[in-house]
Amino acid sequence: MNKETILDIKDLQTSFTVDGFEIKAVDGVSFQLPKGKTIGIVGESGSGKSITAMSILQLLDKPGKIKGGEINFKDRDLTKLSEKEIRSIRGNEISMIFQEPMTSLNPVYTIGQQIRETLNVHQDLGKKAEADKAIELLKLVGIPSPETRIKQYPHELSGGMRQRIMIAMALACNPELLIADEPTTALDVTIQAQILQLIKQLQEELNMSVIMITHDMGVVAETCDYVAVMYAGKVVEYQPVNDLFKSPKHPYTVGLLNSIPRHDTDVDELEPIKGNVPSPKNMPEGCRFAPRCPFATELCVKELPALEEIKDGEQIRCWIYTDRWDGDPEVNVNESKRTAQS
Ligand SMILES: Nc1ncnc2c1ncn2[C@@H]1O[C@H](COP(=O)(O)OP(=O)(O)OP(=O)(O)O)[C@@H](O)[C@H]1O
Ligand code: SF4
Ligand SMILES: [Mg+2]
Repeated sequence: MNKETILDIKDLQTSFTVDGFEIKAVDGVSFQLPKGKTIGIVGESGSGKSITAMSILQLLDKPGKIKGGEINFKDRDLTKLSEKEIRSIRGNEISMIFQEPMTSLNPVYTIGQQIRETLNVHQDLGKKAEADKAIELLKLVGIPSPETRIKQYPHELSGGMRQRIMIAMALACNPELLIADEPTTALDVTIQAQILQLIKQLQEELNMSVIMITHDMGVVAETCDYVAVMYAGKVVEYQPVNDLFKSPKHPYTVGLLNSIPRHDTDVDELEPIKGNVPSPKNMPEGCRFAPRCPFATELCVKELPALEEIKDGEQIRCWIYTDRWDGDPEVNVNESKRTAQS
């Protein structure tokens, strides 16, 4: 693994076997995250974004199980570690913040008690130092009057404040990697922008690496350096963020970008992607996007394309970009309104 790469996931596969049927929630996730950078994981609901995150930290609900692949974090493959070893990485070297801060905070303890508890699990600072550190963390995440806030209970704070507390707790042990799973979707728009700004600022100050899980391309544009686009459990495109917006390659990514409002499009020109995400019980045999793809050919329907590096730092899972493409040789997935306008 490249010295500057903090996380290198290779062909991750995670399944839930229910009543003898295997649901392949994550079935071919690969991406690299350079140290100190942010990667966005995007894709429609059910595409496997959260299960990818839960697999990294091995926090999968039963009967979820990693079935294959590698999760190389620094110099270790996390899939090979014991429960004890992974516990020492969780919250220490890798932290996670979730979508709904209220359900992650315990209503019966004060904010201070919960932050100190987090600190206590990993370090033995002593009472006074713990209290000081808790206040310092609240200041770091921009909470005014931290001395007062620390004595309050979660229900006494707004949603935005609670999310700041969750970030403070995630940062308590100076993680090298922060996973943020839809950290702002439960918040209103102004607060969303503040929280994203906070994560970005902390990332720069602390030189953290971040995985930002979102279904919002606007969040990706604002916060990410790289993007992995997921469809039906698989990464279908991986590119640096500017290249992805300038020149999306996979027909699904193009569809995703055409379906979101941009400053240069009218709302009535937006084109939602037709059709639905396939059900895990009825996965297409070939390319999983084929039933919705305007370019699908016989090859697409029959055979699943691999995720191929088409140039340095750019990986695509689509037959169009291979020698085996059996459709129109001139096909240009970007021949759409979006690029015509820009
Ligand atoms: N506990 C579970 N039991 C069985 N299947 C599950 C379970 N959790 C997730 N799955 C399967 O994994 C798929 C991916 O779920 P995941 O939560 O990763 O989606 P997501 O991309 O995070 O979606 P969202 O945007 O809605 O959060 C689901 O569609 C479902 O089929
Ligand atoms: S492989 Fe075929 S069906 Fe799949 S995205 Fe590419 S062109 Fe469309
Ligand atoms: Mg999710």
